[in-house]
Amino acid sequence: MYIDRIADSIEHTPATIYGVSNQYDATSSALYTNQIISTDPPYYDNIGYADLSDFFYVWLRRSLREVYRDLLSTMLTPKAEELIASPYRHGGDKKKAAEFFETGLGQAIQRWREQGHPDYPTTIFYAFKQAETTKSGTASTGWETFLTGVIDAGFTITATWPMRTESPGRSIAQGTNALASSVVLACVPRAEDASLATRREFITALKQELAEALRLLQSGNIAPVDLAQAAIGPGMAIFSRYAKVVESDGSPMTVRTALTLINQVLDEVLAEQEGEFDSDTRWAVAWFEQFGMEEGPFGVAETLSKAKNTSVQGLVEAGVVASQGGKVKLLGREELPDDWDPATDARLTEWEAVQHLIRALDRQGETGAADLLRKLGSDYGERARDLAYRLFSICERKGWSGEALAYNSLVIAWPEISKLSRSQESGDRRQNGKEQVEGAKFSGPGRLAEGACLCAGRIPFDGRVSKA
Ligand SMILES: C[S@@+](CC[C@H](N)C(=O)[O-])C[C@H]1O[C@@H](n2cnc3c(N)ncnc32)[C@H](O)[C@@H]1O
Repeated sequence: MYIDRIADSIEHTPATIYGVSNQYDATSSALYTNQIISTDPPYYDNIGYADLSDFFYVWLRRSLREVYRDLLSTMLTPKAEELIASPYRHGGDKKKAAEFFETGLGQAIQRWREQGHPDYPTTIFYAFKQAETTKSGTASTGWETFLTGVIDAGFTITATWPMRTESPGRSIAQGTNALASSVVLACVPRAEDASLATRREFITALKQELAEALRLLQSGNIAPVDLAQAAIGPGMAIFSRYAKVVESDGSPMTVRTALTLINQVLDEVLAEQEGEFDSDTRWAVAWFEQFGMEEGPFGVAETLSKAKNTSVQGLVEAGVVASQGGKVKLLGREELPDDWDPATDARLTEWEAVQHLIRALDRQGETGAADLLRKLGSDYGERARDLAYRLFSICERKGWSGEALAYNSLVIAWPEISKLSRSQESGDRRQNGKEQVEGAKFSGPGRLAEGACLCAGRIPFDGRVSKA
């Protein structure tokens, strides 16, 4: 399986120029001045590269020593310079091992900043251990230390992008809590005249800029599960463009605090997007946040409905909730009517749209969901997708992983669903056009204009034909 994958990658790599590889110590070498740097550094003691390499090295050395004299000159692979946090190299001291790693990585980052090409960002792939994340999604110690190192080295982080870079099938991932994904950081040297900012100024800038950045990420169809990670990019871009963000007591703001504030503002921005939804949907989101798909008291539902400018009766009529015996409950996807048609729904809500889309995706796959999206129309569909982001973030915070998966899956499948829906739509138009054209042919005096083509796809959308 792995050999096939490697062969596949080689086949699809547009490698037409000659490549060279050299071995240098990233913390001290000065041999890559003005180069474009894209790097995948080690992560603490995750993998003992040099020790592992020895297993193969001894055999390679026997067979290739005459070909690569310099590279294979040592009995074993170099260990002292290796940037890992291996306690056994520090007399069993974990703290010293971590310090060695962090200091060395800091030095390497400093070199990248000094020696990278000024016109191109340096990109750093950083391994990210999911299990280390806290509620805020990102406040892991390793991650913070790394971001601090990058900023202290004089970089401004301009983007962060999560990537599935690790294969779940690789041997280290089996039965262990191995790294699940990486984050790519794009970094440019910070302007020399970067100014200071107060905590308040930083928060104001976050509020002003994150909403637009978030929109952009959503329109790029970022998976909801990756949104919080990706939003760190624009947030950190703001934090790291200042020489320092100063707290009210004069101390510099830590990366941990900055990350917490970024996550808070992200939550606020997502909540603000709710303003775009209809009243029934806004009620459903608030109810969902409190009760999930469980029953809740009628009184609470009624009070909430006043705040959201709707009524429980209206919500029942809209097909959003069931209300019985003093209890109210959101309708589960399995309880939704099979023959639902948005065109005949007198009280259409984004809430229903998203639930029906998920159900269609689940039962009939992308084609079924596309069929529904076509009936909903693209504007309505886009709002349903925004709602999926919002619901995902609620589920994630509450630890409702099954429900979260449903919203994440919808967004991930979205590009294919909307592509299918558009092609179904143009198929419909063509079909319509054809019927009208045929209608025109048989209805007597009308006839096709000279040169008009009857082949599928070439008939004008509205099916109009010129009359001679
Ligand atoms: C995360 S791995 C890179 C893996 C690579 N992207 C791949 O897919 O095979 C980190 C690499 O950094 C190397 N490394 C560790 N210390 C180093 C140092 N001081 N200078 C240069 N490279 C080092 C390790 O040997 C390892 O190959």
